Amino acid sequence: MAMAFLVPLALVALLAAAITWLWDYTFMRLVWRPYAIGKDLRRQGIHGPTYKLVKGCKEDIKTMKEETDGLVLDVHDHNYLPRISPHYLKWRAQYGEPFLYWFGPKPRICIFDYELARQILSSKSGHFVKNDPPATLLDVLGNGLALLDGIDWVRHHRIIKPAFAMDKLKMMTTTMLSCAQSMIKELENQAFQNKNGEIEVDFNMQFRELAADVISHAAFGSSYKLGKQVFQTQHDLMAINVASSLDVQIPGLRYLPTERNRHRWMLEKKLRSSLMQIIQPRLASTSRDYGDDLLGLMLESCNETKQGGKEGGLGMSIDEIIHELSLLLTWAIFLLSTHPEWQERLRKEVFREIGREQQPTADALSKLKEMTMVVLETLRLYCPPLFLQRKPIVDITVGGMKLPKGVAVVIPIPIMHREKEVWGDDVGEFNPLRFENGVTRAGKVPHAMLGFAMGPRSCIGQNFAMLEAKSALAVMLQKFSFTLSPDYVHAPTDIFLLKPKFGLPVILRRLD
Ligand code: HEM
Repeated sequence: MAMAFLVPLALVALLAAAITWLWDYTFMRLVWRPYAIGKDLRRQGIHGPTYKLVKGCKEDIKTMKEETDGLVLDVHDHNYLPRISPHYLKWRAQYGEPFLYWFGPKPRICIFDYELARQILSSKSGHFVKNDPPATLLDVLGNGLALLDGIDWVRHHRIIKPAFAMDKLKMMTTTMLSCAQSMIKELENQAFQNKNGEIEVDFNMQFRELAADVISHAAFGSSYKLGKQVFQTQHDLMAINVASSLDVQIPGLRYLPTERNRHRWMLEKKLRSSLMQIIQPRLASTSRDYGDDLLGLMLESCNETKQGGKEGGLGMSIDEIIHELSLLLTWAIFLLSTHPEWQERLRKEVFREIGREQQPTADALSKLKEMTMVVLETLRLYCPPLFLQRKPIVDITVGGMKLPKGVAVVIPIPIMHREKEVWGDDVGEFNPLRFENGVTRAGKVPHAMLGFAMGPRSCIGQNFAMLEAKSALAVMLQKFSFTLSPDYVHAPTDIFLLKPKFGLPVILRRLD
């Protein structure tokens, strides 16, 4: 009898919960909030393209990008913005700055003001968090340091930071150099086999291998081979997710057994199993000493949070780090191939400070001033990350703008790296000399360079990245001269990071 009474009651409760969720999800999130936020910001003079139900502006972005996707640039033309950001260019011209647009139902304000960017990025109030990435991206990166916020971030940051102290990095230079040298040795052997001493190499691929090698050694120590398997799986997962990032996200679709989802699940399983193979032996250590490489620190960081908070660690965002590193090197080789006078200048510097045959040391690398300038100019013109995002967790006023809670601010790095008023009339040219007096004096505002971001959430690995880039370039310049292959097509593309769409085929010539 009681059962007969309880079942309809439970059904009614379920129905009520479903209606509340539906109301909250469909009406509040998809209809009311976009309307209210749009109105609020219009009142402040912030305009932008119209919000379309569920899709926001995703379709418009997709169409604009498809239209410019066929553009091919001259190799000396570094203005690839019409290829990768036609939507930002169009909306900035049409609505002024800042402007509001919609990534699906998520509101985003695109800003171009350096002072406003500085205030937001360097805020220590805890009111700005990194914008929540799409669920698909979260799957790949996990709750790595780059994606943590609040108290979790503070805890992880404290544990991971010592791994990037300069003395630790100097020790890692030996690993970086031995990885670069074994790559060069292999290339030399291949070049030897050709009568003219030349070979064609796709440096986009080559540097990905090198960066994976270096990071895998730094992060996983003796388990570096297994580490590389992990990266490959993460890379495959990322490819699936990037392919669907501009698709309209239908709630629940990611749980259905579609072909793409089943492939993703298979990769996720493989990833977990490779990670466990690496981690298990260290976890089994009774001394609770997990090792002092990055993996050891990550495990310590996870262990600490298991007792008091969410799981996480730096480890899962490693795929992104490898890409960033390899792309910085790729674009540096592109620029040195198209600017032979700078290639020669750097080679002379390497011969002067290191020698023709000698193995570079961390101290010798720090003397390569012109090389530092070239790497920084590469980062200005071809910065792998394309934007920075911060989202206020409370209603907040910043730089005179009243930002409603949850409205993400987007800072488009390649645009900020190309403003004539700040960088000067030669903004579109490769001119490493602009960094002669350091990063803060290269533009008219000291914080114009955003390649490693700024403030408390800036790149923890920037010294690592600079050292690795300089190690690899130094050993390349000692052994080879290089030019672009006639097959190279200049079409930088934004598959999550800035990449050469058709790779970077380069002709290498042995110096002797
Ligand atoms: C060319 C190479 C690199 C570039 C251009 C780069 C750029 C960046 C940028 C722009 C951020 C800030 C992201 C944001 O604010 O949303 C960041 C964060 C971060 N980077 Fe890098 N990075 C590079 C290499 C590395 C390397 C080699 C490592 C480690 C080995 C690393 C570790 C990190 C970590 C852990 C964060 C998150 C910091 C936090 O949220 O507290 N990065 N990177």
